[in-house]
Amino acid sequence: THVVTEQCVRCKFAECVIYCPVACFREAGTFLVIDPEECIDCGNCVEACPADAIYPEDELPAELAPALEWNARLAAELPLATTRIAPLTDAEQWQGRPGKWDTLPA
Ligand code: F3S
Repeated sequence: THVVTEQCVRCKFAECVIYCPVACFREAGTFLVIDPEECIDCGNCVEACPADAIYPEDELPAELAPALEWNARLAAELPLATTRIAPLTDAEQWQGRPGKWDTLPA
């Protein structure tokens, strides 16, 4: 599977969804996740993301690896992401910042 990492948090540019040939993205308030049950590993979303937030599972950097667990867990409970999502208004301000996951409410 591919994994949306913490780099997506508070950006949610949503370019990835447009390039996904299957219905694997799920939407939370400030980020998206990929449903590992649906992802076909085409890799289109990797190039599409302006925040470089998406990695193949086997290339996940160690500091972003916790995303593997929460993509799988949250995908099961979040709604399908649509192609009409707008980026968050302060997306560029948050782009590339470390530690964004920890800024979210528990
Ligand atoms: Fe997030 Fe990048 Fe998609 S910031 S919503 S993974 S285009």
